[in-house]
Amino acid sequence: MTLIKIEHLKIAYEFHEWRLVALNGIDLEIGEKEFLAVVGESGCGKSTLALSMIGLLPSPPARVVDGSIIYKGTDLVKLDPKRLRTYRGTEIAMIFQEPLTSLNPVYRIGDQMAEAIMIRESRTNMLDASETQVMQKVHRTDAVGQPKALRPKRKLTPELKKEAMEALKLVRIADPEQVLERYPFELSGGMRQRVMIAMALSQRPKLLVADEPTTALDVTTQAQVLKLMKELINEVNTSIMLITHDLAVASQVADRVVVMYAGDVVEDAGVFDLFEHPLHPYTKGLLSCIPSGSKDDTMLMPIPGTVPDLVNPPIGCRYAERCPSVMDVCRGKPPKLTEVSPGHKVSCFLYGE
Ligand SMILES: Nc1ncnc2c1ncn2[C@@H]1O[C@H](COP(=O)(O)OP(=O)(O)O)[C@@H](O)[C@H]1O
Ligand SMILES: [Mg+2]
Repeated sequence: MTLIKIEHLKIAYEFHEWRLVALNGIDLEIGEKEFLAVVGESGCGKSTLALSMIGLLPSPPARVVDGSIIYKGTDLVKLDPKRLRTYRGTEIAMIFQEPLTSLNPVYRIGDQMAEAIMIRESRTNMLDASETQVMQKVHRTDAVGQPKALRPKRKLTPELKKEAMEALKLVRIADPEQVLERYPFELSGGMRQRVMIAMALSQRPKLLVADEPTTALDVTTQAQVLKLMKELINEVNTSIMLITHDLAVASQVADRVVVMYAGDVVEDAGVFDLFEHPLHPYTKGLLSCIPSGSKDDTMLMPIPGTVPDLVNPPIGCRYAERCPSVMDVCRGKPPKLTEVSPGHKVSCFLYGE
């Protein structure tokens, strides 16, 4: 079952003299309880996609030029910002790369978790209440689109403490009672990210969007957090969209991988299919950058060149300049994303139109 369906989504950052198209009309779906990874180099539009899905695009300058994000039958693009905010957290939650920006440094973990749980409760209890009443309870965001860290007004009551401890146990924190007493800076990066996941999940979202959640962590901690996320899919009945620049990270956990390049989806396939039969030259390029641990690693080849300027992008395929298989047709018009075998889509003239 499809949980969220994105169609022809086009998003631009617009200023007086120029316009940068960060998402160039992309299509993408996430199924229920699916673990989807979105992969691509920095600047490909991954964070823009994530922010649009939770209604945190900084607009202006960002504007949805075209397309739709259909979540359970509702087009999130068409919702007014206030209504959209009621989806954020409860239906679709997000965790960021650096939990310190979303955790409030001056409050104990326990008080911040209590606040997160209370926000959920007030939303649930207020389903019949007026829009304004609900809005007063819901997270606010600042101008740059990052959610403001919670400023807890509540202290931990025994019931809230019990629920907060359950949430911390869910993310495999062994000493939840002590962690509730700590301030964010007293925890390691891996522990902070676990706390953020616990807080996001305490809202019981149906989709968790995680933007480079493990990039700031060392390799061992990264593997632990990824494994945890994978296990949580079944434990809490959620879907996960993991954003990463690292195809190796995606391969560890994802069911399906969407490869993005310069604002386009260039390949979309099941994880085994993508690794066994990569089709797009960009995907092949990314794969050849992954160390395998064998002697062949002397052959690791970074992709030459850089992502094109998105203010004046090429008319044809955006990867043409860097592509070892480039043909004349590639420079004339953009290729379309096409299903070439069941569940495997690619946008490249090597495989047809
Ligand atoms: N607030 C902004 N104003 C102008 N351009 C932006 C803004 N945020 C992102 N961009 C541009 O949009 C493009 C996509 O960025 P982003 O979505 O952050 O990519 P990624 O997360 O893949 O690195 C980049 O060219 C980036 O410079
Ligand atoms: Mg990003």
